[in-house]
Amino acid sequence: MIVTTTFAETRRLGSGVVGLVPTMGYLHEGHLSHIAKSSQANDTTVVSLFVNPLQFDDPADLDRYPRNVERDRDLAFSAGADVLFAPEVSEMYPEEPLTTVVVRNVTDHMEGARRPGHFEGVATVVAKLFAGLQPDVAYFGRKDAQQVAVVTTMARDLSFAVRIEPGSTVREADGLALSSRNVFLSESERRRALSLSQGLFASADLIDRGVTKGATIERACLDHLVHVDVDYVQLADQGQARPLESLDRPAFLAVAATVGSTRLIDNIAIDAGDSGWVVDRGDRLSKASMLYGGSDAAGR
Ligand code: PAF
Repeated sequence: MIVTTTFAETRRLGSGVVGLVPTMGYLHEGHLSHIAKSSQANDTTVVSLFVNPLQFDDPADLDRYPRNVERDRDLAFSAGADVLFAPEVSEMYPEEPLTTVVVRNVTDHMEGARRPGHFEGVATVVAKLFAGLQPDVAYFGRKDAQQVAVVTTMARDLSFAVRIEPGSTVREADGLALSSRNVFLSESERRRALSLSQGLFASADLIDRGVTKGATIERACLDHLVHVDVDYVQLADQGQARPLESLDRPAFLAVAATVGSTRLIDNIAIDAGDSGWVVDRGDRLSKASMLYGGSDAAGR
């Protein structure tokens, strides 16, 4: 169990098949499921922990992003990580970067349209992690479905020899998708936030019954979004993150809404099965997430 702060040292420690779990810290069961999967499948599992200033369009959001390195270190190692790479900003960006990575088309809608520069920051830092650490496999959560499309496109276009492994969204027992930002929700906001997953599950039920019209699928979700400030509900294709009028290829139904002062996103993935569309509703925890400081948490 080793904590590193430089690319060179981290790369030296990666022997055999290297799995990378990129994170911004404040780990939860979603991250831990990637770490466990990587440690079972690969020789070395590196977890990166870096709150990337380049991907925050709002400085206040960057300031209040939850951080606790000791907590993350203990959680990462107990889930099976071999190395925790926690660089300072000066290691990641020794100078103001003059080279950044822009992924076109895939970033035109949803989060890309709402958060200018966000995916440029994500693609740039992930490209630096791929170049600097040279992992064989990298794990990303399906909760950020558009991010998965961006990172997959970037890795393909820049010829990174890395396989992208998307993992199902992990949810609280009541359905709320895990997010490090959930710690900002008050009790009543948390109850209102539940409408995002409830809306998505209502749409999932329609898809299970054979509905493919985008507007009908989106409407079913929207109808549940009361007492939250809805940003969008969008059916989009998995590869290009482009809006779909009808479910005719692997897709995701994405929702974004603000509850109190916290902006949340969630989605369900819709994959092609042997006999029709299969909805990935995510995996449910049986008890409250460690995000809330329960007995499993290493502290806040
Ligand atoms: O999903 C995240 O936590 C971040 O966007 C990532 C991929 C670690 C890049 O900073």
